[in-house]
Amino acid sequence: MGILRLSHVEVRVPDLELATAYYCEVLGLIETAREPERVFLKCWDEHEHHSLILRYAPTYGLDHLGFKLQDADDLDRYERSVEKYGLAVTRMARGEVAPGHGEAIRFTSPTGHLVELVHGMEKVGNLLPLTNPPPRPQGLVGIAPPRLDHVFVTAEDVDEGTRFFREALGFRLTEQVLADDGARLAAWLEVSHTPHDIALITGPNGGLHHFAFWLDDWNEVRAAADTLAYHGVPIDVAPTRHGATRGFTCYFFDPAGNRNEVFTGGYWVDPDQEPVTWTEAEMGRAIFYYEGVVNQRFLTVHT
Ligand SMILES: [Fe+2]
Repeated sequence: MGILRLSHVEVRVPDLELATAYYCEVLGLIETAREPERVFLKCWDEHEHHSLILRYAPTYGLDHLGFKLQDADDLDRYERSVEKYGLAVTRMARGEVAPGHGEAIRFTSPTGHLVELVHGMEKVGNLLPLTNPPPRPQGLVGIAPPRLDHVFVTAEDVDEGTRFFREALGFRLTEQVLADDGARLAAWLEVSHTPHDIALITGPNGGLHHFAFWLDDWNEVRAAADTLAYHGVPIDVAPTRHGATRGFTCYFFDPAGNRNEVFTGGYWVDPDQEPVTWTEAEMGRAIFYYEGVVNQRFLTVHT
């Protein structure tokens, strides 16, 4: 019972056609539904109706993020725990929010993000049969990540945000950066036994630092950078390795300026694992292990 993983993100884009072309032809996502002002997309190995929603708006940034619930009862349980934490919760009926959507609750987290917990999103299947499937479908285009992996958001008070995700939603802290005065500068939190499903870094409330797609290995991260460079996509950070999460990564920007990542590696987390701590002096190595420093754009550009 409980939250299984990140379900979807909805981001604002000022040019819906351009963003859709980028996410379909460069990222290689699949369009599953379209409205005049929203386009719904999924990765090839995801079974649910959508994991990315592009919403037309005259700006960029995060509209909301959603986590997948295992059971219908979880909606009631989290509604109670979020209300007990002191936040207002809105209940959304099946299909009310979006085509193919399940039943959901919504609230604004103490970090200023609109968060949704959803159960029962329509299953449209991945691109493989359930009987005797090949390991990978033919005809994929672009980077073609199999699934959405995590979201990284900014918050004025990372400590309070961390407390909320742990106490109200049951996330486990895997890693953190602590300042010399003890303040929590960044936190990595998980529910899916991976290094992170969501992470928080000090910045404005409600901000999006990036959302990340999973790739199966380091060679695919390198090949993703080939695809990005071929299409002239602005690469923020070329393929490298994180200290925190131990993941392999490449960062880049969608046409609206929202930061994307492809991510692989990391480790398996048991629920009783003690969090790893990085000191303020080693924050550069926590973010980019080889370089040991974080470029200014990475710290200051968010949407
Ligand atoms: Fe990330």
